[in-house]
Amino acid sequence: MRIDILTIFPEMFEGPFSHSIVKRSVEKGHAEIHLHNIRDYATDKHRRVDDYPFGGGAGMVMMIEPVLNCINHLKEKHTYDEIIFLTPDGQQFLQSTANRLSTMKNIILLCGHYKGIDERLREHVITLEISIGDYVLSGGELAAAVVTDSIVRLLPGVLGDETSALSDSFQDGLLSAPVYTRPADYKGWKVPDILLSGHDRKIAEWRHEKALERTIKRRPGMLEDD
Ligand code: ADE
Repeated sequence: MRIDILTIFPEMFEGPFSHSIVKRSVEKGHAEIHLHNIRDYATDKHRRVDDYPFGGGAGMVMMIEPVLNCINHLKEKHTYDEIIFLTPDGQQFLQSTANRLSTMKNIILLCGHYKGIDERLREHVITLEISIGDYVLSGGELAAAVVTDSIVRLLPGVLGDETSALSDSFQDGLLSAPVYTRPADYKGWKVPDILLSGHDRKIAEWRHEKALERTIKRRPGMLEDD
């Protein structure tokens, strides 16, 4: 899968993408992540990407042209399944969204800044708008990194069996069961006996029961959704 990220701060991705699973998935060729500096597509000599809002008011607005130049340049070489804008007023990003996006071939993630992007880009170019939560970040970069990470780990071959994405919280509509590792008794804090029993079926039943209990207690709304 190919992910093109359009941003005015490409350096912000250096940390999140140079470790662990995202790094490995790129090295193994499961994912291609390309960063594009929107400023490189500005047309004036100051490489301007934002301007004052019509009608007045605080904050600047990202201009159509640099963003569109960049998208059109990419579209000359690739066909995109979705052109996604990260924005706090987008649709809520869920595990099901990550699952769906992970089946795609090429996507664009556009990171906004300032007061937002010119509405005409949203009307005519953007195909999906995603929010990672009801709070406002300084820009879309952290949200794009979250979306990328959650997609990439689902790509076939990225995770081994031992860390299978299928056992993640949310994948079966439940939060995950608690997990434990050695020592079995840490100064009196004991691991539940069932996990030491070696009885696979009973362990699976116990895990399901705990996952259900935890979901009912912490996120009852998850059980009501279809
Ligand atoms: N940009 C700023 N805040 C955001 C959020 N909560 N989700 C996605 N993009 C954003």
